[in-house]
Amino acid sequence: MKNDFKSQILEGIPEELPEPQLYDKTINHAPKRKNILTNTEKKLALKNALRYFDKKHHKTLAPEFLEELNNYGRIYMYRFRPSYKITARSISEFPHRSVQAAAIMLMVSNNLDYAVAQHPHELITYGGNGAVFQNWAQYRLTMKYLAEMTDEQTLVMYSGHPMGLFPSHKEAPRVVVTNGMVIPNYSKPDHWEKFNALGVSQYGQMTAGSYMYIGPQGIVHGTTITVLNAGRKIGNDGLGGKLFVTSGLGGMSGAQAKAAVIAGAIGVIGEVNPKAVKTRHSQGWVDEVYSDLNELIKRINKARKNKEAVSLAYQGNIVDLWEKFAKDGIKVELGSDQTSLHNPWSGGYYPAGLTFEESNKLMASDPDKFKKKVQESLKRQVAAINKLTANGMYFFDYGNAFLLESSRAGADILKKDGSFKYPSYVQDIMGPMCFDYGFGPFRWVCTSSDPKDLDKTDMIAMKVLEKIAKTAPAEITQQMKDNIRWIKEAKKNKLVVGSQARILYADAEGRSKIAEAFNNAIRKGEISAPIVLGRDHHDVSGTDSPYRETSNIYDGSQFTADMAIQNVIGDSFRGATWVSIHNGGGVGWGEVINGGFGMVLDGSKDADRRLKSMLFWDVNNGISRRSWARNEGAVFAIKRAMKNNPGLEVTVPNFADDSLIDKLIK
Ligand SMILES: NC(=O)c1ccc[n+]([C@@H]2O[C@H](COP(=O)([O-])OP(=O)(O)OC[C@H]3O[C@@H](n4cnc5c(N)ncnc54)[C@H](O)[C@@H]3O)[C@@H](O)[C@H]2O)c1
Repeated sequence: MKNDFKSQILEGIPEELPEPQLYDKTINHAPKRKNILTNTEKKLALKNALRYFDKKHHKTLAPEFLEELNNYGRIYMYRFRPSYKITARSISEFPHRSVQAAAIMLMVSNNLDYAVAQHPHELITYGGNGAVFQNWAQYRLTMKYLAEMTDEQTLVMYSGHPMGLFPSHKEAPRVVVTNGMVIPNYSKPDHWEKFNALGVSQYGQMTAGSYMYIGPQGIVHGTTITVLNAGRKIGNDGLGGKLFVTSGLGGMSGAQAKAAVIAGAIGVIGEVNPKAVKTRHSQGWVDEVYSDLNELIKRINKARKNKEAVSLAYQGNIVDLWEKFAKDGIKVELGSDQTSLHNPWSGGYYPAGLTFEESNKLMASDPDKFKKKVQESLKRQVAAINKLTANGMYFFDYGNAFLLESSRAGADILKKDGSFKYPSYVQDIMGPMCFDYGFGPFRWVCTSSDPKDLDKTDMIAMKVLEKIAKTAPAEITQQMKDNIRWIKEAKKNKLVVGSQARILYADAEGRSKIAEAFNNAIRKGEISAPIVLGRDHHDVSGTDSPYRETSNIYDGSQFTADMAIQNVIGDSFRGATWVSIHNGGGVGWGEVINGGFGMVLDGSKDADRRLKSMLFWDVNNGISRRSWARNEGAVFAIKRAMKNNPGLEVTVPNFADDSLIDKLIK
C-alpha cells in the first residue's frame, strides 16, 4: 500500500485499517461535548458511523467509536487522520482533473492545517464548534471526490458528509455546501448537540464549513475597522491614550489585542484560558500579560500618560476585571466582550467564581448547575459594565450574543421598551458605515502558495483602489481611505498564517475591478497560478442575523432570511465555483442563516464574465434589501448602482412622515 500524499488522497477510505492513533495531548482539543444521546440513539450513531466502512471492519471499529462517543460526546474517527501534513500546498501538488476542484482542496486543507485550525483533530477550524467535517471519513471521501471530479460534475456536501458527485455542467458550481440546515422548529442548541452526536448535522460557523477561513488576518482587519470606527464615535482625536477593555484571546477574539495596537489604543483583554494567553503572547499579538489586577491598573496608568499603543492581557476571568474597574472607578473609553456566547453552555463562556478546570468538569458532569453559574456570572458582568457606561464608557456587543444571552440570564441589559441598552457593533458601526454602502470582507487566496504572488496582488489592489478613490463620492471617502491604508501596510503586519491570503474591505465596484485586474494579471503570466476569490459570510448580503449582520434593519424584516437564501441561489447560477449556506455561525445555531462563495480566477475570458456577473449580484442584493428597509446609506448606494448599470432596476422605498402615522395611531 502506497502511503504518500497523493496515493492517500486517491485512496479515500483505506481498504486496510490504519493503526489506531494515540490521543495527542500536545494539541488543542475540543471540549468534551454533552452526553446527550439515549442508548437507542447511541446505537443509531454507531450505525451511522459504520456506514462509511466495509463490513469486515465493523467488529474492530464499533467498540472504538463507542468509546469516542462516551469519552468525547462525538465520533471523530481519530484512527483515520491521515499521516501526511494537511496544509495549503501549491495547487499543482493536489491530485486533480479539475483545477477548480484542486483550488477547493487547497482551501479545505488550509481550514484543517494545524497552524490554522483551533481543534485540528476534531476538524474544528474556529469558534469552538466551527466544523469543516464531522469525522475523518468524511474528510477522506471528500478529498477523493475532489481529486476525481471533472468540470462537468458537482459535489454535494450535506453538513460535512459528501453525498457524492452528480453530473452537471461547466458553468455550475463545482461544490454546493449546506451546513446545519434543519427544519426551523428543530433549531435549538440541544438539537445541534443531538444531531451532531448522531453524525447527521454540523455547525459550519461561517468560513469553517465553507472552506474560506484565512487565519487571523481576516478578523484582525475587521476588528481594526471596528475599533477605529468605535473610536470615531467618541471623538475625532484618535485613540491615543484611550482604553479599550474586552475579553477573549481565542480564535477570532485574539485579534482584538493586535487591532487595538494597530488602531493606536491601549487594549486590555481578559482571558481565562492560560493556553490561549500563551499562544497570543508568543505570537506577539499580546505585548504583556498580568494576573494581578493592581499591577495591571498601574501599567494602564503609565500607558495612558505616555499615549502608548499597547496590548495587555489579564489572565483571569473578565468578570473579576470589570468588577474591579467599576469599584475603583477606572476610566474606560471603549468596552466590549468576545467570549463565545454563541455557545454558552459547552465551553464558550467561563463563569466567574470557578477555575477554568472546574468549569470544564462541571459543564459535562452537571450541565444544569453549570448553566446557572453562567447566568449568575453574566448578571454580575453586566452590572459592572453598567457602572462604567454610566461613567462615560461606549460599550458595544461584538456579535457574540452577549446582549442576547445576558438578557436571557435576566441581567439588567434591557431598556423599558424591551430593546437592549447597548448597540451591537453592526447597528452602530459596521452596518451604517460599511454594509449599507456595500463595503465588506472581500478576500483572495493565491493558489501558488507563493508569497511573491501575494505581493503582486497587494500592489494591483492598491492601484485599483487609489484610482477608484479619485472619483469616489464623499459618502464613502473614509472607507476608501481606511482600506488603502490597510492594503499599503498589510504586508508589514505579518498576518499571513497558512494560505497566501489577503482581506480587504471593498464595495461592489472595488471587488469587481480588483478581481478583473487579477484575472488579467493571471492571463499575462504576471501571477503564476489561479486566484481564489471569496469573502467572510459576515457581509452585506450573505447573512441574515437579527442581532448582528442585519441588526441595523429596522423595518421588521430582520427575522427573515430571504436575503441570505436569495444570495446563495443567485451566486450559484452567476458563476461561483462553490457556494455554501449555513444555519448558525457567530451568534449560534438557530440564530442566523449565512452563506458564502468561492470563485476561481484562472485568467480566462469565462472567469472575466463570471466575476462581473456574480460579484455585482453578491453585493447589490444586500444593498437593495437594506435600501428597501429604508437605510439611507443603502438608498444612496443602490441609486448610484442603478445609474451606473442600466440593467439594474430596483424597487426603492418612499419615506412616510412620522407625524402622519403618529396622528393616526397614538
Ligand atoms: N471578531 C469578530 O469580528 C467577531 C465577529 C462576530 C462574532 N464574533 C464572536 O466572538 C466570539 C468569540 O470568537 P472566538 O473565535 O474568539 O471564540 P473562542 O472560543 O476561540 O474564544 C473565546 C475566548 O473567550 C474566553 N473566555 C470565555 N469566557 C471567559 C471569561 N468569563 N473570562 C475571560 N475569558 C473567557 C475563552 O477561554 C476563549 O479563549 C464568538 O461568539 C464569535 O462568534 C466575533
